[in-house]
Amino acid sequence: MTWREYHDLTKHSAESLRRTQHYLDWTNMPNPFRHYEGVPILDLSADPPAPQMSALEVLEGKTGNTLARNGAEFLSQLMFYSASISASKRVPSTGYTYTLRVNPSSGNLHPTEFHFSTHGLVDWSDGLYHYRPSSHMAEQRAIGDFGGKLVGTSAPLVFVLTSIAWREAWKYRHRAYRYCLHDIGHAWQALTLAARSIGCESFALGHFSDDRVAEWGLLSQDEWPMLIVGLHGPSIPVRVLDPVETILFGGQPNRLSEEQVPYPLIEAVHAVTKLTMEATIPPLGQPKESGRGDISLPPHLSTSRNFGDVVRTRRSALDFKGGDASISFPQLATLLSSTKEALFADFATARFVHLYLYVHRVEGLAPGVYRYWPEHAELEKIKEGDQRLVAAALSLGQDLAGNACLAFSMIGDFQSAARSYGDRGYRYVHFEAGAIGQRMYLASEALGLRATGIGAFFDEEVNRYLCLSPELGQVVYHFAIGYPVPDPRLEA
Ligand SMILES: Cc1cc2nc3c(=O)[nH]c(=O)nc-3n(C[C@H](O)[C@H](O)[C@H](O)COP(=O)(O)O)c2cc1C
Repeated sequence: MTWREYHDLTKHSAESLRRTQHYLDWTNMPNPFRHYEGVPILDLSADPPAPQMSALEVLEGKTGNTLARNGAEFLSQLMFYSASISASKRVPSTGYTYTLRVNPSSGNLHPTEFHFSTHGLVDWSDGLYHYRPSSHMAEQRAIGDFGGKLVGTSAPLVFVLTSIAWREAWKYRHRAYRYCLHDIGHAWQALTLAARSIGCESFALGHFSDDRVAEWGLLSQDEWPMLIVGLHGPSIPVRVLDPVETILFGGQPNRLSEEQVPYPLIEAVHAVTKLTMEATIPPLGQPKESGRGDISLPPHLSTSRNFGDVVRTRRSALDFKGGDASISFPQLATLLSSTKEALFADFATARFVHLYLYVHRVEGLAPGVYRYWPEHAELEKIKEGDQRLVAAALSLGQDLAGNACLAFSMIGDFQSAARSYGDRGYRYVHFEAGAIGQRMYLASEALGLRATGIGAFFDEEVNRYLCLSPELGQVVYHFAIGYPVPDPRLEA
């Protein structure tokens, strides 16, 4: 198995949909919450204050501040604005209620888990923890200095984001690995931007030995480490360090469902994208030459909506209002500019994801398909004319991609990623797409719009429609932005 075989085998087509006999076995739906039982559970402070910096400024790279006095206050604020429960929905016909979180997730199935090690936080034991979003608490899985083992130096806070692929595969079967990777990209930016809003910077590592990190993190067999994120900065409340003795609790992972159905393609692609020993990042390849467009984007906008409110009210639109309402050209420029900032990660030596836009209703811009060239803030016209039917049809017939004001195909340059990082590069292209998606979710919300990530599309039809040669890349993620229709199921 190679990344390419997995990718080809999990493409949607009219034929693949016809062949699918899958039905959802609700009695075996995996629990979206992992708990490690039998370990100390530590409270995080109640009602953490909302980070006040404007969300758009955080997206541009400005750093906020926090007045957290100790570890519990700091961690509470960080997790509340990156990974906690932020709303619920109630199905009127059945009364069934389920929760939604600050970070989005394909099918709301939440394959991502947040583990972290702390070192030297005030009034907080150094150790290894797992975040429990269902009660906004931390499960203490070990005492000791674990971050140092992982990132070489003893950083005050080091996260390991893991995926439980079965949670996604229950619904999306073999294609689910792609969504797990997208979700990691979303979670990474949710964490990084929340950290920045309270005064710290982060750096992500994707190029690590999987088995060593799994062992370090005392991870259950069904959790796969995907990304390490180290945080640093003066706002983290730290104390003078005393040496601590290591004590392992580990804890018993809860069982997520009666039966775990095997998905051999997922196991296989995960295995080929693993690194089995310490790996160093290969030297930089030659950056691809940037292109130019003939349409310059206007300056971007600023809004005062604060980061805390934006992330807690972010939601995916179920569908968008069609009709005449458009977004302005400066709003579009702001959305695009939110994706531009360099991503701080060992694998982000080049950008592998490019944006193609299906413009339906943007004032001052004719409907059509455009390619975004970030270096010069320009758009290149690729096709003219109404794209509403096409965008919806390509997105597996989902109306929202046609009813939005604009939709996107994110195009992943898998070949360049594979040249730089081998099969591991497959993960990085998806992380980048998820990261761009997360940034556009927040920029949309800050501008009074709403967004939806779209993982389901007819792969080859998109590649053909956009006339993509393999050197240009393949579609990796779809996205839509506009004015949402109200969702009657949503509760605060
Ligand atoms: C990677 C990814 C793929 C998604 N794909 C779709 C999709 O194809 N269609 C759709 O309507 N929503 C899609 N969504 C939106 C999720 O359904 C949504 O995030 C989830 O229900 C949680 O809701 P929230 O975003 O409001 O928290 C996707 C989200 C992500 C992160």
